[in-house]
Amino acid sequence: MLSRVFSAANTGFDGRLVEIECDITGGLPGITIVGLPNKAIDEAKERVRSALRNTRLTLPSKRITLNLAPADLPKDGTAYDVAMAVAILLASEQIDVGNTGESMFVGELALDGSIRPVAGVLGYVETAKTHGFTSVFVPQACAKEARLIDGISIYPVTHIRDVYRHLTGEVPLPASPALGSLPASGVYEMSDFAHVYGQHTAKRALEIAAAGGHNVLLSGPPGSGKTMLAKSMLSILPPPTREETIAITKMHSLRGQHGYDIITERPFRDPHHTTSDIALIGGGQQAKPGEISLAHHGILFLDELPEFNRNVLEVMRQPLEDNSITVSRASHSSVYPADFMLVATRNPCPCGYLDDEQRECSCSLAAIERYRKKISGPLLDRIDMIVPLQRVEHDKLIHHTGSESSQAIAERVAAARARQQERAGYPNASLSNRDIKQFAHLDEDTAAFMEKAMRTLDLSARGYMRVLKTARTIADLEAADRLNTDHISEALQYRETLGQQY
Ligand SMILES: Nc1ncnc2c1ncn2[C@@H]1O[C@H](COP(=O)(O)OP(=O)(O)O)[C@@H](O)[C@H]1O
Ligand SMILES: [Mg+2]
Repeated sequence: MLSRVFSAANTGFDGRLVEIECDITGGLPGITIVGLPNKAIDEAKERVRSALRNTRLTLPSKRITLNLAPADLPKDGTAYDVAMAVAILLASEQIDVGNTGESMFVGELALDGSIRPVAGVLGYVETAKTHGFTSVFVPQACAKEARLIDGISIYPVTHIRDVYRHLTGEVPLPASPALGSLPASGVYEMSDFAHVYGQHTAKRALEIAAAGGHNVLLSGPPGSGKTMLAKSMLSILPPPTREETIAITKMHSLRGQHGYDIITERPFRDPHHTTSDIALIGGGQQAKPGEISLAHHGILFLDELPEFNRNVLEVMRQPLEDNSITVSRASHSSVYPADFMLVATRNPCPCGYLDDEQRECSCSLAAIERYRKKISGPLLDRIDMIVPLQRVEHDKLIHHTGSESSQAIAERVAAARARQQERAGYPNASLSNRDIKQFAHLDEDTAAFMEKAMRTLDLSARGYMRVLKTARTIADLEAADRLNTDHISEALQYRETLGQQY
């Protein structure tokens, strides 16, 4: 008899349905898998065979052919094991067809028949829901992430025997309900703004950046607190919404980097400067998401930006513009969202002490030039705010009595974000040029002021739009509907260093 069972493939951020057909015919006993299987899938034969045998289910001594369709879709991993076992049970009439039609099966089989967790379960469940399935059988260990999706029944299972008994009606399993409220976001382990002494301008800039989701570059000598400030950024961002939590968890689940738990905090990714372009943007054999996608809805922190390989930085230009990335491999390409806030740092020169009030810089002009050129103009163009920092004197650090807490800043940031959400549905950093025309309209005087500044600073068209977005956020922080010259001139301040240096 011929049977059909469904599973899915996480081919990118959006998955695709995979149909598993099983045909049992007379002939030499054995299992053959067709439909572009790779090694992990081919080995499923052995796992399925042992799992059924050790569960005292019957593996027919006949010729068993499993076909994974569509054939052009490269299939990988161990997540199809359970679906293949169910297909065999159906084709050999050990279970009834009527019971499986609207279900999807996901999970890896151990030789004793127990079901092991697999990466990307949240993605499989979303695909099942999109295609109108009513239930998904998932490994028990992955049930939590699966339950983030509502409107579909989740059956967490630990053994193929449980699946069999449920499908025969012998021992029905209870479906797990969708998670109503999400677990509260944990306290941020990273530092609090209260621990950073002084640096008022930088803090103000970071508050604006957080409020609008703007990309920032902190520029200052070593020891000025750049790394410290960047690492405090998460503490002033609002917690992710449910939708964002699902996207964040799904992305980490695709990489198997979430410990099968729900991620309730925004990600903070800080790849080292020796990182490769594939690690950063994704790709490789399986076209997996890279750091920029793992930073989706959170922060991508690139400490010491000029130390990164130049071609590594250049590949970021397109995703910084599109908020998504297409990673290609020979047979197919995958699209992953990459809507992150870039927080980067740099020293003003290779030794770090150019313009320092206390120490002499030892770099040659040529060395400084080379160092600066490592961040290309087009990349800098995509950074909304450049924030210069100076070192705080040591005695001030010692006698420092504490400044405003992250919590207080976070409240203002949340209020400004709420305004943007209501107005456009997303933070100002994501405003399109058309949005800017509509939401960041300038009256005559302000427009004249802006025009003059544009000429003085030699702003590019992209730079112009970025200034308007930043200005929009500054206005949102004071709950102002219209942009005025104060908002514009503060926004321009964060591009001034750019004009001087390039
Ligand atoms: N403004 C500041 N307030 C409190 N501590 C500071 C400040 N600036 C620097 N420090 C201290 O100096 C150390 C080095 O700062 P860091 O953030 O690594 O500097 P940078 O990245 O600019 O080289 C920090 O760990 C912190 O202890
Ligand atoms: Mg540092």
